[in-house]
Amino acid sequence: MTAPKALVAGNWKMNGLTASKKEIEKLQSMISENGANCDVLICPPATIIGLLSGKGVEIGAQDCHMNISGAHTGDISALMLKDLGCHYVMVGHSERRSDHGESNDMVKSKAIAAQQQGLAAIICVGESDAERENGETLDVVTAQIKGSIPEDAIVKNTVIAYEPVWAIGTGKTPTADDVAEVHMVIRNLLMDRFGDEGEMVRILYGGSVKASNAHELMSVLNVNGALVGGASLKAEDFYGIIATYQ
Ligand code: PGA
Repeated sequence: MTAPKALVAGNWKMNGLTASKKEIEKLQSMISENGANCDVLICPPATIIGLLSGKGVEIGAQDCHMNISGAHTGDISALMLKDLGCHYVMVGHSERRSDHGESNDMVKSKAIAAQQQGLAAIICVGESDAERENGETLDVVTAQIKGSIPEDAIVKNTVIAYEPVWAIGTGKTPTADDVAEVHMVIRNLLMDRFGDEGEMVRILYGGSVKASNAHELMSVLNVNGALVGGASLKAEDFYGIIATYQ
């Protein structure tokens, strides 16, 4: 079995207004002029998903509710995201796990909701600074993977993003060896789970990825793309990461 096609995904977090449509259009024209040898995804705030159309760039979401509809003021369901043309939704980003107290069980329920609507769930995992200092990284990531992937998940609708919490937005990144170690553990868990097909699940690395470090990080064994925050907001910066795959 070969490696899966890489996915470079941008997580805009709580950034982006209606005018951001121009930034996506700029990215689309850079891709159509210079090419992209990977899948490209932007997850903007939900408020502007409907304004953006994905030619050469998929549009996804940053979160969904675990229910399809009902009395959940302020929440957005996977059905609504599907209705807007999304094919991907992130679940369990560490900022959701910490800001909204999302447990592995909740993340799994959201992934189930997404997958039932035909969306791929990008399930985010990663250790905190203290957990790394205490040597708990592999245990934490293993528990998150085991606790967050739905029983009915299939290879096609599952993407994993490994994002060490201490590397997000800090400019710090793990060494290539550290990334390789964690991604190998995740790959082995996916092979246990999906058999040989587990090789085809994309495992993204996220946390302070930028054009200048993308080549090194994306060359690591079992890294099949990136989840990018800050460096995805400007088309030029984001394209610099996409171009790693040329
Ligand atoms: P960063 O964020 O690239 O700004 O570190 C990554 C993320 O949180 O997905």
